[in-house]
Amino acid sequence: MKTQLAVCLIALSLFAMACQNSSTEKTNPPATQTSQADEARDVHSYANPEQVRVKHVALNLEVLFDRKVLKGTSTLTVERKQNDAKELKLDTRELKIAKAEASTDGSNFTPTQFSLGETDKILGAPLTIQLPAQATKVRIEYESSPTASGVQWLTAAQTAGKKHPYVFTQSQSIHARSWIPLQDSPGVRVTYSATIRTPKDLRAVMSAEQDSNAPLTGEYKFNMPQAIPSYLIALAAGDITFKPLGNRTGVYTEPAMLEKAAKELEDTEKMVEATEKLYGPYAWGRYDILVLPPSFPYGGMENPRLTFATPTILAGDKSLVSLIAHELAHSWSGNLVTNATWRDFWLNEGFTTYLERRIVEAVYGRENEEMQAVLGRQTLDGLLAKFDARDQILHIDLTGLDPDEGSTEVPYEKGALFLRQLEETFGREKFDQFLKAYFDHFAFQSITTADFRAYLQKNLLDQNPQLAAKIPPSLIDEWIEKPGLPASAPKPKSDAFAKVEDQAKVWLEGKTPAAKLQTKQWTTQEWLHFLKFLPPSLSEIQMKELDQAFGLTKSGNAEIAHVWLLAAIRNKYAAADLRLEEYLTSIGRQKLIKPLYEELVKTPEGKQRAKAIFAKARAGYHPIAQTSVGKVVQ
Ligand code: BES
Ligand code: ZN
Repeated sequence: MKTQLAVCLIALSLFAMACQNSSTEKTNPPATQTSQADEARDVHSYANPEQVRVKHVALNLEVLFDRKVLKGTSTLTVERKQNDAKELKLDTRELKIAKAEASTDGSNFTPTQFSLGETDKILGAPLTIQLPAQATKVRIEYESSPTASGVQWLTAAQTAGKKHPYVFTQSQSIHARSWIPLQDSPGVRVTYSATIRTPKDLRAVMSAEQDSNAPLTGEYKFNMPQAIPSYLIALAAGDITFKPLGNRTGVYTEPAMLEKAAKELEDTEKMVEATEKLYGPYAWGRYDILVLPPSFPYGGMENPRLTFATPTILAGDKSLVSLIAHELAHSWSGNLVTNATWRDFWLNEGFTTYLERRIVEAVYGRENEEMQAVLGRQTLDGLLAKFDARDQILHIDLTGLDPDEGSTEVPYEKGALFLRQLEETFGREKFDQFLKAYFDHFAFQSITTADFRAYLQKNLLDQNPQLAAKIPPSLIDEWIEKPGLPASAPKPKSDAFAKVEDQAKVWLEGKTPAAKLQTKQWTTQEWLHFLKFLPPSLSEIQMKELDQAFGLTKSGNAEIAHVWLLAAIRNKYAAADLRLEEYLTSIGRQKLIKPLYEELVKTPEGKQRAKAIFAKARAGYHPIAQTSVGKVVQ
């Protein structure tokens, strides 16, 4: 049932357009004119998997905190796709390559020639290794740079415990190449194994099978037996402890955070069960979560078997754990079925945002889910109103761009809304069956947008012709290939939010003082909606009244504080100045800090402040956040 079309190499004018291992349907051609090869071509990789494909990565690395370097070897098992292929092409960024060796029997290695090409700002430098005939393995001796884009080195002072240094990687989108020389393309799947050496009192963890009780020997072994794309290879090392949450779930974090994290994440096992009920068995064995120090640049990262998460989700009331639902959902949408190129990113994130909401509904109820869906639609409408046409398109052309920069919330929210329309059109039963079969059909494969369209056509639309009349190809084109939203896009509604709006209105009209508003039972989502619903401009008196009634400046909820601080900057509410600085110097999650810098730089005084705060905060930010925030304040 898992049909894979043989892949070919076509020479088109001077360009060799290489296609990767995308799966395709037997009968339905892709709806667009572009060839399969063109569709699956990854413009963000120098690698040559269509000639020689890496199948396994064996790492042997030492974590050198004093030099901020990962040093050791990466041994790649390769498979020749073309018998006469003479070289292996890999991706690297800022790697120091000491030696390359090749082996025909897998154990005896002899030196082979290699060369590092010119460095491209976005892609890094290609590493070309001469591949002797019959070679099956290549071993590269190397070290990463202290400024590696995919590695953050934290001093003891930047951790919760303040006693030990910490390091973690973030490989998505194209940062694996900054700590491992490999074919860094989501269309290339590898199994991996690793031996990691750290100072003796620290623990290393990876996105792989591992022993959570391994004694602290300073040497840790890992194995990932399932083939995954390189952006899911992940490592962290520090003063890390473990607590089980359920049979196959648990949490890793610094000792000072362990109890709080375990309490907040206690529903994790329930979430896994709810997702399995919807979309079939969890394929990865264990599902553990690593709660990182606050400089982690994302909310969460779906590293297989071990989600990496920001501590800013620990609100104390589980109100932000939908982020775990999201990363868990990637175990189906993203990690099992993966975007073949970054252009197809919406297949990862749009599907995952849809799944996230289904999990939230199953575990926390429809009312809760609908609030999140409404917030999502509002975010989307806001982005569509301000973005260029290109950034509004799901199947986005990222040629010449860093995929991280191309990734906005549009693929998340517009993608999820598209799936919601399919669900509403075909009904839950049919659509759930369809999705479950889709994950099963493409499991452990990397697919393009055209692959999805062909599968959708054959397995949902063609099966239900009457209902499918409501989803003509022109509408699918509108969703996937065009800017904006189709007029028929779903509009989620929340009764709870309607009540929030009533409260906001009576306050704005001066009928009820803030302290008398009915906010007692409000969840985080209701607070967020309340604050976002208020007009952009508020008086000093109004800001102060809200702050006194609800203690917003001192809110420990990172999401509520974020929206409040945006309003504080906009309205020049000086009472929040210190809090803003504290916020920006203690959190590194880009989604929370970047919009605040963007709001600051809108005025000359604000820009000065932004620069001053960034100067203090910069060293504590992840390299990716240093770059993205740096661009805002410049
Ligand atoms: N895979 C993403 C994070 C990511 C995207 C890293 C693009 C690098 C490039 C992850 O699953 C994600 O979407 N995280 C969100 C959380 C969320 C609940 C939408 C985040 O970090 O905010
Ligand atoms: Zn995601």
